[in-house]
Amino acid sequence: MEILELDPTDADARRRWHEVREGSVRADRPHALTTTLGAFEATATAASTYVARTWLQAVDGSEVVGVAELELPLTENLDVAWCEVGVLPGRRRRGVGRALWDAVVERSRAAGRTRVGGEVSVDVDVAGAGHAFATAMGAVERHREDHLLARLPVPATPIAPDYEVVTWRGRCPDEHRGAYLAMRNQMNADVPTGELDLETTVLDDERLAASERGLMKAYDVRVAAARRRSDGTFGGYSLLFVPHGEDYGWQDDTLVMPEHRGHRLGAALKSANYAGLPDHVGVVHTWTAPDNTAMHRTNTALGFRVVEHMYEMEASIASDGPG
Ligand SMILES: CC(C)(COP(=O)(O)OP(=O)(O)OC[C@H]1O[C@@H](n2cnc3c(N)ncnc32)[C@H](O)[C@@H]1OP(=O)(O)O)[C@@H](O)C(=O)NCCC(=O)NCCS
Repeated sequence: MEILELDPTDADARRRWHEVREGSVRADRPHALTTTLGAFEATATAASTYVARTWLQAVDGSEVVGVAELELPLTENLDVAWCEVGVLPGRRRRGVGRALWDAVVERSRAAGRTRVGGEVSVDVDVAGAGHAFATAMGAVERHREDHLLARLPVPATPIAPDYEVVTWRGRCPDEHRGAYLAMRNQMNADVPTGELDLETTVLDDERLAASERGLMKAYDVRVAAARRRSDGTFGGYSLLFVPHGEDYGWQDDTLVMPEHRGHRLGAALKSANYAGLPDHVGVVHTWTAPDNTAMHRTNTALGFRVVEHMYEMEASIASDGPG
């Protein structure tokens, strides 16, 4: 068995890499949100100014039995690497995961990184290996979120009378970009990350535009924002992605700006987004920190239920550290 880098220009190899990731993740996570082939293709075939990515594969003969993705942020958090490791169920407990991890650590150190972070999700009913594996690799838990699912339709939550809902799909229209950027940056500064010590990503118009272009290749991107009628001020937004060709959506940010809190705008914006979805979209995924009481209440009222626990884990790879 050897660990090789994926040649991202090889379409066949990309498809095989993606299939092994899918097979590894699905094995013990029936409710997992996995990256679609379309989303993987969009990322793997376009260079990014903000993240350097490497895809590794454990190859036994001509068979790919495990995969890892390594992401190196290039503009902030230059001490951090992000990784995901997956091994096919029939090939586990033979050191494949560890070999992929070692390759990730070697590359991360070579790029000057001193810690590797990753998300580990565990089904609430099915035992999974991810947490034990990450712990064995020297990682510790830094933050936890619940992964929740709702079946559509959900009960409608009308917007508070002082506000109106403004929606768009894909690129944010020019007239709203300033307000949208301010809210996105407020979200990045406010989002609870537990004990994860990270620099905040700051979006400018160019970085937002790059993100929109990338996402639109793989997703129907839907935004619902709340605008106060009296002065036209934006008070919050909710961002939802529907992968092209799929029957589910996933909820990204939902933010209500501090001075606009207390009007149930979060629930109204989520519900406005869901109401606008085509009929074939029947499920929505979301993530919330269990101690984020306001958002947990909003989600429960909309019919979301917890299906997985997601742990943000981090290992020190400084030369004198473990790993
Ligand atoms: C987690 C995963 C990658 C492990 O792959 P693997 O090839 O079985 O890992 P290894 O054989 O190298 O295991 C290394 C160590 O991890 C720990 N470990 C792995 N699986 C474990 C399990 N099911 N229970 C307890 N410990 C486990 C052990 O300490 C193991 O060492 P040992 O076999 O000498 O006891 C694989 O189970 C998987 O793909 N799971 C789904 C995806 C996932 O959760 N990935 C982790 C998030 S990045």
